Amino acid sequence: MSEAQNTPSRKRRLPATYYNMITMAGATIAAIALGLIVFLVVLEATATEHNPYMGIVAFILLPAFLVLGLIIGAFGVLRQQRRRRLGLPSTEKLPQIDFNNPAHMRATLFISVTFVIFLAMTGFGSFKAYEYTESDEFCGTLCHEVMQPEYTAYSVSPHARVGCVKCHIGSGAEWFVKAKISGMYQVYAVLFDKVPRPIETPIANLRPSRDTCEQCHWPAHFYNEKLVVHDYYGYEDENTHWKLHLLMKIGGGGDEGPAKGIHWHMNINNDIEYVATDEKRLEIPWVKSTRADGTVKIYRDVEADFEDADLAEHDSRHMDCIDCHNRPTHHYNPPAKLVNHAMSLGRIDPTLPGIKGLVVDLMSEEYESTPEALAGIETGMREYFGEEHPELVASRPDDLERSIATVKRLFSTNIFPEMKVSWRDFPDHIGHLTTPGCFRCHDGNHETEDGEVLSRDCNICHTIVAQERKDGGKYVSLDAVEYVHPEDIDEEWKETNCSECHEG
Ligand code: HEC
Ligand code: HEC
Ligand code: HEC
Ligand code: HEC
Ligand code: HEC
Ligand code: HEC
Repeated sequence: MSEAQNTPSRKRRLPATYYNMITMAGATIAAIALGLIVFLVVLEATATEHNPYMGIVAFILLPAFLVLGLIIGAFGVLRQQRRRRLGLPSTEKLPQIDFNNPAHMRATLFISVTFVIFLAMTGFGSFKAYEYTESDEFCGTLCHEVMQPEYTAYSVSPHARVGCVKCHIGSGAEWFVKAKISGMYQVYAVLFDKVPRPIETPIANLRPSRDTCEQCHWPAHFYNEKLVVHDYYGYEDENTHWKLHLLMKIGGGGDEGPAKGIHWHMNINNDIEYVATDEKRLEIPWVKSTRADGTVKIYRDVEADFEDADLAEHDSRHMDCIDCHNRPTHHYNPPAKLVNHAMSLGRIDPTLPGIKGLVVDLMSEEYESTPEALAGIETGMREYFGEEHPELVASRPDDLERSIATVKRLFSTNIFPEMKVSWRDFPDHIGHLTTPGCFRCHDGNHETEDGEVLSRDCNICHTIVAQERKDGGKYVSLDAVEYVHPEDIDEEWKETNCSECHEG
């Protein structure tokens, strides 16, 4: 630097203390980072495909370098000033700026303008960084492999346009900070491969649904009924088709409708508290209901090995949306359900003999990876029809191809072998066919001391308004028709929980 002082012949725009190696290095780092940020921002604005890594680099990594460069630069200047001070003793604490000196004026202007631009850019950069960590792209694809099941299932669900953060974080600073802190742990877990497979559920610190779901769905506004129609196909060569029409009693209670029905549980005036003895909340031996008028009832599972004295050992939970809708968006459906639905739409051709049983078997097998599964399913289907029905392979190749493509798509959006995610590991609490669901409490074994039972009557939650049976008969009644189980299992279905025979 001393040579710079000794050779004032070259014109300098900045005070001499700026011309030192450290400051120059810092400035170079900052300038390169800035150039790259501008380049990436332009690139991102014009690109059609968005790459999640680009966001991380442009809005988090490069700005960090920019700031680092500036810190280094400032350090260089300060160090230089200190050395000069020591060399030429002076009482000045700060450099003197003389606005009459054109060099000082230029330097001050230059520094101020740069500083303003820098501030604006950092503000914009931090906003983008914040926005970016909130995006579905960041949540769902950056940790591609580990979040792939959640993201894929979400992308084909009714909530595909609702951001991850709307359900997982919600609004308010407190949960935002909590989420970012646990997010930091998650980034660490991904980098060092410490993520459990599958990712565990229920989520221990999930925000109460009052602050998430209920911001969009108004709990008081549940009334009327909803018609749900299910199609079924038999496991024989004929794929016998039958149907069931259920009128779901989704009422709840608010000023506009009667206070009864399924959503009555979470009606703002009621409170249901329960204790589960397992992680997945499938075993529920104790339930307490407190009604708006103050009536309290305690239902105990008479078959469970659980005493009131054991209550102290377990945390209780107050029922909210997620106790029933635990899979509102990450749907991992069982094969039979997927196949029945696709057959009813003709996407798996129901006139191909034996296809229902074949596909359910192929999809239920345990595979190591998705490519292996897809290859196995395709070969399995081709071999079966090639051996059993070569005439169909020759005469209806399109129907077979369409069916194969559909089955592969269904598999890859519902079952994820790499992360060990499937309907087996993630029971859906809505319903009671393949998982205990509503029958966790409504199984006919939960009683009060007065002998009042939480009913398992087939028509308290839904009215079975119509059934088309396997033999072709049609039964319709607005007062409910009696359920006829598709297989002759006597009265078994009246006593045993459906999920004990049906694993999907
Ligand atoms: C409509 C609300 C909603 C949206 C939107 C949503 N989730 Fe979820 N998510 C849930 C619920 C509810 C659970 C299960 C909570 C429980 O059982 O404790 C869950 C569970 C999870 C789990 C735990 C593993 C599992 O499958 O149960 C992960 C990981 C996850 N979500 C990630 C995401 C990501 C990533 C996105 C965005 C791509 C997202 N979620 C969007 C509601 C949502
Ligand atoms: C940002 C708003 C928003 C949030 C938050 C939200 N939902 Fe929804 N939800 C919607 C919309 C919009 C639909 C209708 C989607 C459609 O019909 O295509 C919907 C549909 C549904 C449905 C009907 C799905 C079906 O199969 O038709 C259920 C059940 C549901 N939401 C439950 C929940 C639960 C439980 C949560 C909280 C974990 C939640 N929602 C959070 C907006 C939201
Ligand atoms: C006791 C279990 C239970 C609880 C608690 C519960 N639901 Fe539901 N909900 C159901 C059932 C069962 C259905 C009908 C599902 C079906 O067959 O489509 C349903 C249907 C819905 C639908 C679709 C209604 C329509 O018209 O299509 C929405 C939206 C919904 N619930 C949101 C919520 C929200 C939000 C909460 C929390 C405030 C909640 N539910 C709490 C059991 C529950
Ligand atoms: C944690 C236990 C529990 C679970 C799980 C549960 N319920 Fe309930 N449910 C209750 C209790 C307790 C009552 C009765 C409260 C009372 O009598 O005060 C009840 C009552 C009802 C009623 C009658 C409401 C009325 O109009 O009087 C319906 C309908 C109902 N539940 C539907 C469902 C459905 C559908 C599901 C599954 C999606 C379900 N429940 C899951 C505990 C549960
Ligand atoms: C506590 C409430 C409740 C009771 C009691 C109840 N159900 Fe259901 N049931 C449901 C819900 C919720 C669903 C899910 C509706 C859907 O698939 O959208 C369902 C679905 C079904 C389905 C369609 C299953 C599928 O996925 O294909 C059948 C069949 C059925 N119920 C029969 C019965 C029979 C038979 C009884 C009497 C033994 C009964 N239910 C008692 C709540 C109940
Ligand atoms: C004792 C065992 C048993 C019980 C309990 C039972 N089922 Fe079944 N169910 C069967 C058998 C066996 C079949 C034949 C097809 C199969 O293997 O899944 C069947 C088939 C079905 C199917 C057609 C499945 C498909 O793949 O399309 C439905 C729907 C069904 N049962 C509903 C119920 C309901 C609802 C309940 C509870 C109220 C119930 N079952 C209880 C044994 C049982």
